[in-house]
Amino acid sequence: MLIEETEIRQRVAEMARRIEADYEGREPHFVGVLKGAAIFHADLVRELSLPLTMDFVSISSYGPATSPVGPLSLDKDLEDDIEGKDVILVEDIVDTGRTATFLFQWLPARKPASLRLCALLSKPDRRVFPAHPDYVGFDVPDRFVVGYGLDYNQMYRNLPYIAALRRSRPEPSSAHLEHTATGEP
Ligand code: IMP
Repeated sequence: MLIEETEIRQRVAEMARRIEADYEGREPHFVGVLKGAAIFHADLVRELSLPLTMDFVSISSYGPATSPVGPLSLDKDLEDDIEGKDVILVEDIVDTGRTATFLFQWLPARKPASLRLCALLSKPDRRVFPAHPDYVGFDVPDRFVVGYGLDYNQMYRNLPYIAALRRSRPEPSSAHLEHTATGEP
């Protein structure tokens, strides 16, 4: 267990208050990066009392997920025109920064009025690309984390908390979730 459900809820509310202050009088357009950001995005927008719109993109990478090398491709484009909109990209985690950097290179061509990055988690020690989230929920250590939208082989996205995979040998197929005090995974 790294971050408990109540801590996440509290932090998401704090982030929402900051965004409300920064975007007062505007109608931000929240673009969630699928699939990892889906749960954070859903909770964040429900915390906001601003008028807002939302959309989603999906990016995939060729090559190992843990490697910062290899090209990225756009699997699902935006559905809405973002020209003149105040766009806030919502990511689950900024790890190497490759996804955020790709999106920040690609989206300005669509002429948004502004573009910011909001991430639930950030792993500053892993940064390879120059991604600088404007809003960050929690900095986390260089561990593989799951839950609250984040997956390991598509599993564990539904956990209401963030947990780190146990470092075990052999890896990664037999990696296990660390056990909480209650014995839950
Ligand atoms: P990037 O390296 O910043 O481009 O991160 C790419 C994506 O990898 C993130 O949006 C996550 O979906 C995924 N990712 C990175 N680190 C983790 C992790 O610790 N657990 C689960 N997914 C991760």
